[in-house]
Amino acid sequence: MKKITINASRKYDVITGPGLISQAGQLIRTALSDNAKTVCIVSDDNVSPLYRAPLKKSLTEAGFKVVSFIFPHGEPNKSLSTVSHLMEFLAGKQLTRSDALIALGGGITGDLTGFAAASYLRGVRFIQIPTTLLAAVDSSVGGKTGVNLKAGKNLAGAFWQPSLVLFDTDTIKTLPYSILLDGAAEAIKAGMIADRNLLDYIMQADSLTDPEVFTTLSDRAIRIKQAVVEADERDTGARQLLNLGHTIGHAIEKCSNFEITHGHAVAMGMAIIARAAKNLNWSREDCLSPLLAVLNKYKFPLDCPYSAAQLAEAALKDKKRTGDTITLVIPVAPGDCRLTQIPVEKLETFIQKGLA
Ligand SMILES: NC(=O)c1ccc[n+]([C@@H]2O[C@H](COP(=O)([O-])OP(=O)(O)OC[C@H]3O[C@@H](n4cnc5c(N)ncnc54)[C@H](O)[C@@H]3O)[C@@H](O)[C@H]2O)c1
Ligand SMILES: [Zn+2]
Repeated sequence: MKKITINASRKYDVITGPGLISQAGQLIRTALSDNAKTVCIVSDDNVSPLYRAPLKKSLTEAGFKVVSFIFPHGEPNKSLSTVSHLMEFLAGKQLTRSDALIALGGGITGDLTGFAAASYLRGVRFIQIPTTLLAAVDSSVGGKTGVNLKAGKNLAGAFWQPSLVLFDTDTIKTLPYSILLDGAAEAIKAGMIADRNLLDYIMQADSLTDPEVFTTLSDRAIRIKQAVVEADERDTGARQLLNLGHTIGHAIEKCSNFEITHGHAVAMGMAIIARAAKNLNWSREDCLSPLLAVLNKYKFPLDCPYSAAQLAEAALKDKKRTGDTITLVIPVAPGDCRLTQIPVEKLETFIQKGLA
C-alpha cells in the first residue's frame, strides 16, 4: 500500500494498492473521523455491477448506512441533468452535511460526484475511488470537479477537494484496453510537462497492464499533480500547465460528439501542439519526436479528422479563453512546458501549423 498526502485547502491521502475496496469502510471511517452516518455511492451502470457490492459490504461493516445512485455511463451524461437527479436523490434520502458521497468509477463519475458534493447543502465531503487509469493518474486528485454544458466541456464546475482517494489497483483488471490507454495519455502528458524520466519509463515499459507499470505511472503522475496543485490550487497560474493538449483535445472530443474519448483526444491534441511549436520554432529542443515515439508505441490514432477551422471554432467556446486571448501550453523540451497567450484570431493558423 502506497500513500501520498496532498496539502491543498483540504489535506487528504491518496492510497494505492490491491484489495482496497474491501478495506474501504474502515479507511473511509478513519478519513471522515467523526459523525458521518450515511454515505451515497455514485457509480455508472458499467462499474456498479463490478465493484459496488464489495464496497457496500465493507461500508456496512464499518457502520455506515449506504444508499446508491447509478447513472448511465458516457460523457454525454456528465451533465447538469445527472447532477440535478443526484442532488434530488440525496435530498430524498435526507443526507445531511455530515454525510458523504463516494465516487466509484472513472473520471466522469468523479467529476460529477465532486460537483454535486460541492453544491449539495453548500458542500458535503466526498471520497474518490477511481476505477480507470485516467482517474487514478489524474482526475481523482486535485479537486477540479464539474460537468459539461452544450457549449463545451467542463463549463460548469467547482474546486472541491476530496477527503480521501482510494485507488484499488485490482479494478484495472476489468478495464478495456482502449480505456486503459486514455489514462496512459494523461501520464504521458504529466511526463511532457514535468518529468522526462517518466516519458522514458513509459517508452520502455513492456505492458501497461502490468500492475507494477500502472502503479508506477499513477505514483509519478500524482506526485507531479501534487506539486502543481499545492502551488496553484485554483488554476490561475502554473496549474494551467496540466492542460497540455487539452484546449485542442476538448475541441476534438466535442467535434466528435464524444465518440473520441478524452485521453485519445488529448493525445491528438498534444501531437498537434508539439508539431505547431516545432514548425514555429517555439521549442528549445525537439519535443515532437519523443512524443510521437511514445504515442506511436501505444498505437494512439493521431490523424485528426477535423480541420483547423472546426477545431478553432470549438476551442474558442472553451473556458480557457480570457477575453481576446487564449492560453496555450507549449512544450519547449521533453519535461518542460510554458504558458503562452495568443490572440484568439491567431488560433486557427496555429492549429493549421500543427496538422500534419
Ligand atoms: N477533474 C480533472 O482534473 C480531470 C482530469 C482529467 C480528465 N477529467 C475528465 O475525466 C473524464 C474521463 O474519465 P475516464 O476516461 O475515466 O472516463 P469514464 O469515467 O467514462 O470511464 C470510461 C469507461 O470505462 C468504464 N469503466 C470504468 N472503470 C471500469 C473498470 N474498472 N472496469 C470496466 N469498465 C470500467 C466506464 O463505465 C466508462 O464506460 C472526462 O470527462 C474528462 O474531462 C477530469
Ligand atoms: Zn485530461
